[in-house]
Amino acid sequence: MTVQPNIHIEPDNAALTQYAVAQIGKLAASAIAERGVFRFCVAGGQTPRAVYAQLAAAGPEAQLDFSRVHIYFGDERCVPPDDAQSNYRMLHESLLSHVRMTAEQVHRIPVERDPQDAAHAYQAELQRALGVNADGSPEHTFDLVLLGLGADVHTASLFPGSELVTDSSRWVSGRKHPDSGQWRITLTEPLLNSARCAAFLISGADKAAALAAVLEAPRDPERLPGQRIAPAGTLQFWIDTAAASALSQPSSP
Ligand code: 6PG
Repeated sequence: MTVQPNIHIEPDNAALTQYAVAQIGKLAASAIAERGVFRFCVAGGQTPRAVYAQLAAAGPEAQLDFSRVHIYFGDERCVPPDDAQSNYRMLHESLLSHVRMTAEQVHRIPVERDPQDAAHAYQAELQRALGVNADGSPEHTFDLVLLGLGADVHTASLFPGSELVTDSSRWVSGRKHPDSGQWRITLTEPLLNSARCAAFLISGADKAAALAAVLEAPRDPERLPGQRIAPAGTLQFWIDTAAASALSQPSSP
């Protein structure tokens, strides 16, 4: 792993949630102070739900000025936005329905289209929102990319054995879940890695082996997609003791 990760361990899921909310609040406050906006690329799945709910509840105390926040999605399942599997629905239930943000601030992946169209449309939306440099990389980057980790070491919808994108102009891709066959739309490695901060939020003993593989197994990013995340800025692992239980040298709490 080229970028030296910062590993922070909390005793349990509740403490981890509080820590993540505080970190996101700090990142947002500094981004807004420096650039007037907090570009937040959210993770899907279930782990972050409690964090989003507490961000909504914390409001001003968490220094989150939602009028300055733009939300992007690291990946999305190709299901309707009101489907129980939708990452958009999970975020809407836990955060978006509790705070005041305009539709322009929430950059939803248009999964009602077929996967290739959805990927092209989202890339166009991101290029409009972030700007594009001559080399195809984003002019403005995410201040925070929040990521989960699957037990098979996938992150976002970058699955083991899937294409490892290196072309900085390719930001979005359609992928099929290797087990369910479900189509997903995912941001690619170049866009995720353009972030100022990428933070894995990982909780529970069921992720311990996957986390140990990311941090301690020999480099094999094709087989271990969690190892593909090497942001331009900082790489954080926000984890709890159960998730850290397979690490040979857990870091300081
Ligand atoms: C998704 C996520 C995915 C998720 C991991 C962990 O759409 O499912 O983007 O990468 O973060 O699978 O999911 P849990 O937090 O539900 O364990």
